[in-house]
Amino acid sequence: MALIDEITRRRTFAVIAHPDAGKTTLTEKLLLFGGAIHVAGAVKSNKIKKGATSDFMEIERQRGISVATSVMGFNYKDVKINILDTPGHEDFAEDTYRTLTAVDSVIIVIDGAKGVEAQTLKLMNVCRMRSTPVIVFVNKMDRPCKDPFDLLDEIEKELQIRVRPLAFPISSGDTFKGVYNIYEKNLSLFTSDERQTADASTVDFSDISSPELDDYITPSYAKQLREDLEIVEGIYDDFDRQAYLDGKLAPVFFGSAVNNFGVRELLECFIRIAPSPRPSTTESRQIEPSEAKMTGFIFKIHANMDPNHRDRIAFMKICSGTFERNKNYLHVRSGKQLKFSSPTAFMAEKKSVIDFAYPGDIVGLHDTGTFKIGDTFTEGEKLKFTGIPSFSPELFRYIENADPMKFKQLAKGVDQLMDEGVAQLFTSSLNGRKIIGTVGQLQFEVIQYRLEHEYGAKCRWEPISIYKACWIESDNQEQLADFKRRKHSNMAVDKHGRDVFLADTSYALALAQENFKDIRFHFTSEF
Ligand code: G4P
Repeated sequence: MALIDEITRRRTFAVIAHPDAGKTTLTEKLLLFGGAIHVAGAVKSNKIKKGATSDFMEIERQRGISVATSVMGFNYKDVKINILDTPGHEDFAEDTYRTLTAVDSVIIVIDGAKGVEAQTLKLMNVCRMRSTPVIVFVNKMDRPCKDPFDLLDEIEKELQIRVRPLAFPISSGDTFKGVYNIYEKNLSLFTSDERQTADASTVDFSDISSPELDDYITPSYAKQLREDLEIVEGIYDDFDRQAYLDGKLAPVFFGSAVNNFGVRELLECFIRIAPSPRPSTTESRQIEPSEAKMTGFIFKIHANMDPNHRDRIAFMKICSGTFERNKNYLHVRSGKQLKFSSPTAFMAEKKSVIDFAYPGDIVGLHDTGTFKIGDTFTEGEKLKFTGIPSFSPELFRYIENADPMKFKQLAKGVDQLMDEGVAQLFTSSLNGRKIIGTVGQLQFEVIQYRLEHEYGAKCRWEPISIYKACWIESDNQEQLADFKRRKHSNMAVDKHGRDVFLADTSYALALAQENFKDIRFHFTSEF
């Protein structure tokens, strides 16, 4: 198959959600449709059950399981679908943010009873930064849910994106009748059938004024549906695919993942409207997926927690050309030529060594500690992909050496863990002390454990009160110098020596922004 055909038939995406909204369940149903798995329950939830939050070994064990499901590829009607899994636990949100740098679109799952939740908002912000096309799936319609119009308004307002329902629910909870698929012009009647893989309970219904509708869903629900659809057509513009592809409009579906309801419709629409691999941006130029030469970047590194197998897997997204096994590629950062004898991919339930991979595909590379997040591979061109930033961490602690004999081990361990993207390191300008910033409490435990077990080093945490770390820059060098002098005790540098302001409180940050107008405060490392 020609490269262009391989590209056009690929869809690489992630399912994202606030914990408990139904991400794992929906992913599993999508895999069932693709024949990638054959029984429900085959995808282990990588969600950490409440109550087990301090047991990070359990979390790592579960994350271990999730390596196998990190990327799930399957074919559905000649379309090659790559689903990138994201961690279920909020403390690993940064992993999720990074995974979003490797997808071409996302499906956001929202719990119909709860609406938009905190994590949904954060994830949407990352999507917005990259203009990632999003489809919204409102889940759990078999439970009493908010009014669909209220939900649509809430999504539009909170997620700051125009919405367009492509399906509409008929009631919810005990009286949930089903959904009318506006996109396909048919009616799916609700049955709670986990095994439903075909459109068994879907009836074509292009004319909803037909009295037959009354027979299917009772006259009162039929009347309600007709009124609702009239309102939908009245207030929402026709579905505009280009606006969706530009990340400006989100089509919305309703269903119940656990009952496998509304999932087929979602998938059918997804393969038709979702983008195939999009061009990628580098510091010097834009890369088209159809370029003959291979390019790709590493967006995730997964360490093996088993002390007997310290190797890591680096996940590379192919951006252009054809990736080949045993071919030499330039590792741009080190300038070295590297080849991979056993690159892996996950197809259906199996992890296997692959000979070729195409744009949109994710390849697992064996890594002994050489790679960093953001590393680029090419056929010789010195490129650096952009759009793989670090995000402003939310929790901070001083890291101290607890074993003076193991200073070197600690430095090496911290260095490697930071390259892996576990957390971020800052050095205080005031006292030279090292500060670790994370997005979740658990990372501190993970770091301490891994330093001890993988590097033989011991660390101790000490509290520091910081509200946020932001990268600062300015064209006004005088003001920048003045700011750094005045805020000396709150200044630090990141791993690359860039200036970082550690604001004590949101008030201090707002005040700094107010008083130093020429300084730009950034909440991601790429600006
Ligand atoms: P997550 O990955 O987004 O964290 O959510 P997950 O799929 O694990 O789903 C969270 C809970 O919501 C699960 O219940 C799951 O069964 C349930 N769920 C998912 N989709 C639906 C739906 O359409 N309707 C209803 N009523 N429930 C749904 P749990 O009790 O936490 O786990 P389990 O014991 O059922 O596995």
